Amino acid sequence: MAILPIVTYNDPILKTESKPVSGPDDELHQLIDDMFETMYNANGVGLAAPQVGRLIRLFVVDADIMAEETDEIKHGPLVIINPEIVEKKGEIVRMEEGCLSIPEVRDEVKRPETVTVRFRDRHFTEKQAEYSGWLARVVQHELDHLQGTLFLDHLSAFRKRLHKSRLQKIDSGMVETDYPLAPKTLSKSS
Ligand code: NI
Repeated sequence: MAILPIVTYNDPILKTESKPVSGPDDELHQLIDDMFETMYNANGVGLAAPQVGRLIRLFVVDADIMAEETDEIKHGPLVIINPEIVEKKGEIVRMEEGCLSIPEVRDEVKRPETVTVRFRDRHFTEKQAEYSGWLARVVQHELDHLQGTLFLDHLSAFRKRLHKSRLQKIDSGMVETDYPLAPKTLSKSS
């Protein structure tokens, strides 16, 4: 297994829509294992393939550490491939989010409390599951990544402005994290 560098804010990869995964193979299994190792190393609860530079519809989640705090059901590590939202329901709730691609920026985002998702697991077996609480939150955040959307895109222009200087620092690579970050895929043209 290997720890992969994480792509950061303003990299075009994070704004690009991902393509479906065609089927499981050794390379995919290796990527999944590496993504878990990368996520745990960074103390993350979710990681989407575009965040490690792969534009495919895959993410990994393990929100047990948060479920522990709130007495929610623990689902353990989840591999979610080619997800489709079947239903969103419940109240629209505000919860604070962060993202490994946007180090040290956190803000509240409004999302539905419960979400039903159809997807393939690691073995490409079709699954459908209903998630609520923290896990629903993480799953919706990661699903956004597959559409090229970041949690920042849900904030008002005012809230986004509050994070401006921090975002500029991340964009120019002037940020320190205790996990490896990827160099930008496109150098900025002057
Ligand atoms: Ni994220």
